[in-house]
Amino acid sequence: MELQIGGLSAVYLAKEYGTPLYVYDKQIILRRVQELKEAFPQAKICYAIKANSNLHILQLVVQQGLGADCSSKAEIEIAELAGFDMKKSIYSAVNPSNDDLKKALESGIILNLDDLSIFRRLQKIGLPRKISFRVNPGFGEGKFPGIVCAGEDSKFGMTEERAAEAYRLAKENGIVHFGIHMMTGSCVMNEAYFEEMTKAIQDIAVRIGNKVGIEFEFIDIGGGFGVPYEAHERALDMKSVSERIKRVFTYPANLVMEPGRYFVAEAGTLLTTVTTMKGKFVGVDAGMTTLIRPALYGAYHPIVLANNPSALFTEKYSIVGPICESTDCFARDRDMPVVHEGDILAIQVAGAYGFAMASQFNGQPKPAEVMVSHGIHTIIRKRETTEDLIRYARH
Ligand SMILES: Cc1ncc(COP(=O)(O)O)c(C=O)c1O
Repeated sequence: MELQIGGLSAVYLAKEYGTPLYVYDKQIILRRVQELKEAFPQAKICYAIKANSNLHILQLVVQQGLGADCSSKAEIEIAELAGFDMKKSIYSAVNPSNDDLKKALESGIILNLDDLSIFRRLQKIGLPRKISFRVNPGFGEGKFPGIVCAGEDSKFGMTEERAAEAYRLAKENGIVHFGIHMMTGSCVMNEAYFEEMTKAIQDIAVRIGNKVGIEFEFIDIGGGFGVPYEAHERALDMKSVSERIKRVFTYPANLVMEPGRYFVAEAGTLLTTVTTMKGKFVGVDAGMTTLIRPALYGAYHPIVLANNPSALFTEKYSIVGPICESTDCFARDRDMPVVHEGDILAIQVAGAYGFAMASQFNGQPKPAEVMVSHGIHTIIRKRETTEDLIRYARH
């Protein structure tokens, strides 16, 4: 039997819509959202839309009552278009332009600033009633060095001392509502880490609060919940993560979190057609422009022969794309069944930071996206065409 996604054959979907094609199983997204809502009934959850900002997916998340975590002017505008309540959403940008800050201010989203100097710029644009700052606690964790976003060498956030200065300045400027934020890394599979970093941000909040004479209305622990990509990895037990966080979270404030990957990663599969067999190299029509994670971080994605998923592994192949870069490789020397030209490969766990990081490098139109649910399929983003690229080139 062919690989099934949401009650449909992956091969059928590939033929119907062409490849490369992102397919999302709606029920998996809903299940993940429900799991987090049940594990953290006391928390305010903002979906980090950078993970996957397809409008259809955003609307699904809005229906579940979540807020959004946005990192740019365009992300705020997309979140507004999807119907997110901006008062329940947060803007956590790094090195934002004044134009971005103006949009954030006008939208009513909660501003979470990455540095004191950004507050100084904001003073000239206008001031919100509520503000949050991003603290870098000096440590972080993540599956790859490239997705650790705290620590001495990290560009994100500011030290506790600098953050205290920022809150003092905000208070002097008449701001009366405060939050505090930390996002230290992505794809964390270590449950104990969530307890450790929640305790760290809370301790920082207590110290800054005492020093500056303010109280925090919310403490935002960021995103970072990992998902299993590799066979040996075990899924996080969100109930246990929640227990651990609850054990240390005693500050009388709202707990805020901004998961991205957790909601969408496992729901997404990238379907690609084998175009070329060249010795051990299996050439496919998707590339690092369609899914950059393997090229960017050396990330592992399961790859399944969609037209015969139970075939025995007898070969070792490197699965490579059409891009003129040697890093354009989804898997090196991967154990696989015999593969032929025209076969469909399913690159799994591709729903987060997949399409969202797609590019048009090497003249590659972006792929189409399809949502499936209980055997029904719906196109949720049209495939770009060569004509689209040419039109853009003319301007
Ligand atoms: C500020 C912020 N919040 C949330 C996230 C989402 O992280 P994840 O997808 O690991 O949950 C990110 C990811 O980079 C981020 O930068």
